[in-house]
Amino acid sequence: MTTHLSAAPIVVNPYRPSPARITSIIDLTPMEKLFEFRLIGDAAREAFDFQAGQFVELSIFGVGEAPISISSAPSKQGFIELCVRNSGDVTGALHSKKCGDIVGLRGPFGRGFPFQEMKGHDILLVAGGLGIAPLKSLINHIHDDRHDFGKVTILYGSRTPADILFRAQFDMWRHRDDFDLILSVDQPDETWDGAVGLVTKLFDTIDVDPKGTYGAICGPPVMYKYVIAEMRKKAMDADHIYVSFERRMKCGIGKCGHCGVGHQYACIDGPVFNYWEAMNLQEAI
Ligand SMILES: Cc1cc2nc3c(=O)[nH]c(=O)nc-3n(C[C@H](O)[C@H](O)[C@H](O)COP(=O)(O)OP(=O)(O)OC[C@H]3O[C@@H](n4cnc5c(N)ncnc54)[C@H](O)[C@@H]3O)c2cc1C
Ligand code: FES
Repeated sequence: MTTHLSAAPIVVNPYRPSPARITSIIDLTPMEKLFEFRLIGDAAREAFDFQAGQFVELSIFGVGEAPISISSAPSKQGFIELCVRNSGDVTGALHSKKCGDIVGLRGPFGRGFPFQEMKGHDILLVAGGLGIAPLKSLINHIHDDRHDFGKVTILYGSRTPADILFRAQFDMWRHRDDFDLILSVDQPDETWDGAVGLVTKLFDTIDVDPKGTYGAICGPPVMYKYVIAEMRKKAMDADHIYVSFERRMKCGIGKCGHCGVGHQYACIDGPVFNYWEAMNLQEAI
């Protein structure tokens, strides 16, 4: 008797983390570190194709999972970087790890920034605090394809000079003429010679081509409403404004309902939303 065994399709379990090795750790501030990971195995690396603005679920075995935005550019193949604030169980456990240690990563998840659509336009990026983490992926991605974009302006607000993330890279970029980077702090110290005040104050210092500019915003929830208002005051096209929202998440794949925002799930419909979607997410803005 002949038995017909049909080849079963390979089912990838979306809840199963892939092992990743920590290849570099850089202290950015006393609270934040930049970790670089290399996924273990060629198949895992090939499957990990992401867009700027997407996130991963980071697992520390025996502790738990936390959603974290990807900070590196998609072009940095085989490696991903996460900028992580020590704020609880998972992130605290990650902060105690060393180079060579293994963690788990699931993803990439969510909707990123519309990179292809943004090409051919000026770009205005506005970040507050840790919100620079996902925007850094977009900035580096634009940097890799710099000739495809017009003027690129980055407005970045921090609480104090000591809280500025990616300081070394930004210090270098401040002297480049293909990126306009303006930093602002709420509380200056004696070393600070830049702008002082909320990031929205920086809008007084910039010129924007209203129809030819895409805006991307990420920061603390309180910031969105005011930054969007400034973009609209500059007559920027609402269709060209994108925001990245953080919501408490568990599964990351639209199953558990933890990240419900309005009638959408931030993990699959976001974390990047366009202006019109953001306006409908009443509790988010
Ligand atoms: C899409 C997305 C991207 C993110 N990107 C980053 C990033 O790039 N870098 C980064 O550092 N963080 C990022 N975060 C935030 C990060 O996921 C959270 O801070 C996460 O809670 C950290 O996990 P933890 O186990 O270390 O902390 P937790 O143990 O979860 O604690 C974090 C803090 O939240 C409080 N808390 C925990 N659970 C609850 C609850 N149910 N209700 C109210 N308060 C609670 C805790 O008391 C504590 O103060 C992102 C979140 C999302 C959704
Ligand atoms: S995190 Fe589970 S539905 Fe979004």
